[in-house]
Amino acid sequence: MRKKRFFCPEGQADKIIIYGGQPLQGKIAISGAKNAVLPIIVAALLSKETCLIQDVPRLADVEIICDVLSELGAKIKLDPNGSAHTVEINCRDLHNYEATYDYVKKMRASVLVMGPLLARLGKAKISMPGGCAIGTRPIDLHLKGFEALGVRITMEHGYILAEAPVLKGARIYLDYPSVGATENIMMAASLAQGTTIIENAAEEPEIVDLANFINSMGGKVVGTGTKVIKIEGVESLGATSHTVIPDRIEAGSFLVAGAIAGGDLFLENVIIDHLKPVVAKLREAGVEVTEEDLGLRVRSEGKFQALDLKTLPYPGFPTDMQAQFMSLLAIAQGTSIITETVFENRFMHAEELRRMGADIRIEGRSVVVEGTEKLTGAQVKASDLRAGAALVIAGLVAEGETIVSDIYHLDRGYDNFVTKLHSVGANIIRVKSRDRLRLVSEV
Ligand code: EPZ
Repeated sequence: MRKKRFFCPEGQADKIIIYGGQPLQGKIAISGAKNAVLPIIVAALLSKETCLIQDVPRLADVEIICDVLSELGAKIKLDPNGSAHTVEINCRDLHNYEATYDYVKKMRASVLVMGPLLARLGKAKISMPGGCAIGTRPIDLHLKGFEALGVRITMEHGYILAEAPVLKGARIYLDYPSVGATENIMMAASLAQGTTIIENAAEEPEIVDLANFINSMGGKVVGTGTKVIKIEGVESLGATSHTVIPDRIEAGSFLVAGAIAGGDLFLENVIIDHLKPVVAKLREAGVEVTEEDLGLRVRSEGKFQALDLKTLPYPGFPTDMQAQFMSLLAIAQGTSIITETVFENRFMHAEELRRMGADIRIEGRSVVVEGTEKLTGAQVKASDLRAGAALVIAGLVAEGETIVSDIYHLDRGYDNFVTKLHSVGANIIRVKSRDRLRLVSEV
């Protein structure tokens, strides 16, 4: 059983304090991708052998998904034999098929266990995910895909009960290229009888990484990274060792931090191809971004032009970078329009940026951002992990002191965000809420 934990409940009330005005100089190593490692850890359920996953970011969400798997019977070791950022998982003996309300409420990605449980045990009982700060986030497309594979779905007392004595391959068209639905259906289909075709599939790089992980266990998944994915079901899946791809959203967040704060920041361990939409928009704003060996360099004098932005499924501009760009455009020269097409309620950070002097007007699914001369430090609250990152980024350039609370959101998706920014010159600390000045180094 797992013994190590990096995130404790007391950390929930910590705050981040930033004093703006410091340019960023130096190098940051990007961690493994949160949105790749979560489905990959879940996919270990498909195998009865031991899976070794490396470059695992140190995130609260990783701990939660490991707890969910442990409840199902998985044997998990964090950092086995002292090797950092590694998870060893063996799911030979599964004795439970339920993801309870407590877990699903804590982290929506827990619903991803449905596909592997149906593939391994022929049944799954999952608490229906409620909404969250950024939207209702239904899972109707996941369930429609499972029904096409022969799964019987019933719902009662807030739980979804899914049963399928046999999973049979099918042709499935997704009404919307949902990342989670593509991943869940792919995992179920990998052990189904026959071939499954997913059309209008999500194309995110994290889905390609998941398919590479499944194939490394003996799976037969082709076409990921395009709109049509073909999965040939196999009898069983074996052991593997896999290294998670770098986090394109963490990297994008630091590119924006470097642009807004000014200076010269180098990011190592990035896959440049995954950042094309983000780099294109930074360059359109007049920010210098150059490709060097295995990294990206951002140089900035802290001045940039307004631009229009629309979030779209990959390879469009990522919704997970929308908040961070709003901070940047808040002090760009001119008027910008940001349109959020993926989630229906992902502008909560706009109110908080207004407290810092931003001139932002919400109009339905769009916001109009009038660039202002400066931002001023204020007490603000993170509503989700990307909003939290956006507020810290705004604090890097705001005049005076910015205090960001509810930073447990950040711990879910950023590995040592404060430590990394501090290491390149940001005037930033993380403090326990009860002790405003004592510096608490991040885990
Ligand atoms: C994944 O969420 C990511 N999370 C999100 O990252 C990311 O924002 C999102 O994909 C879009 O790229 C993980 O990978 C763990 P979706 P997911 O299913 O799978 C609607 C972050 O900040 N939809 O592609 O939940 C849904 O309501 C997080 O790292 C249905 O209508 O996203 C939303 O409007 C936030 N029915 C849209 O599709 C369904 O059955 C996109 O959802 C499924 C989704």
